[in-house]
Amino acid sequence: MMAKTVRLDKFLAAAGYGSRKEIKKIVRQGKVTVNGEVIKDSSVHVAPEKDRVTVDMVEVIYRELVYLILNKPSGYITSTEDSGEPTVMEFIPEEFSHYKLFPVGRLDRDTEGLLLLTNDGKLAHDLLAPKKHIPKTYYVKVDGHVSDKHIEAFSAGIILDDGYNTMPSQLVIRAAGNAGEARLTMSEVELTIYEGKFHQVKRMFAAFGMQVIYLKRIAMGQLQLDPTLNPGDIRELKPDELAMLREG
Ligand code: URA
Repeated sequence: MMAKTVRLDKFLAAAGYGSRKEIKKIVRQGKVTVNGEVIKDSSVHVAPEKDRVTVDMVEVIYRELVYLILNKPSGYITSTEDSGEPTVMEFIPEEFSHYKLFPVGRLDRDTEGLLLLTNDGKLAHDLLAPKKHIPKTYYVKVDGHVSDKHIEAFSAGIILDDGYNTMPSQLVIRAAGNAGEARLTMSEVELTIYEGKFHQVKRMFAAFGMQVIYLKRIAMGQLQLDPTLNPGDIRELKPDELAMLREG
């Protein structure tokens, strides 16, 4: 069967390289290659699934929708705006820089872990819609002794500093700090919440006078943070991961 073809300018426009006029210009300038050959005519046809197209030596990835998973490091804000502070957008590889990607939800500057970046507004909306109650699991280190008393309280709902009563959440103790010691003790827990209020995890522990020392999102919906992704690593979602995410 013949591979489906599309005009080069249409192909590049769909990949986010600008208007047809702008594309005609970069093609004329000799910046575009198809299968290693400089092509100066933007009306030639290419087969997106077969032909290798580059712009300024960078391979063009032809997809309408892009889904990236980032292991966000501490020290970056979750924002698309350039306010002079380092943002998570800096981790987007060059070959995806032409897509209008945005982060799905927000992690605090000092929070690490699973952050999705996509241009799929529908999926982002489905994952963030308060009514959908998509679970988000965090690995948390807190200064204090977390006990069964906290598990019960978290499963009943916590009243935050502004009076908001959280939905039931699940707390799993991984390591409990020693009770009654004068020096700082630390507990390691996993907490699954079903909503996303501002600084929610930190404020839930603050309700017990406990401070979160380290916070990392390890799952969103059915999607787990790939343990082989180091902080700052980013890659496309695999098809099975995307399917899991769609299931919610
Ligand atoms: N809860 C917080 O307190 N901070 C985050 O970044 C995410 C959840």
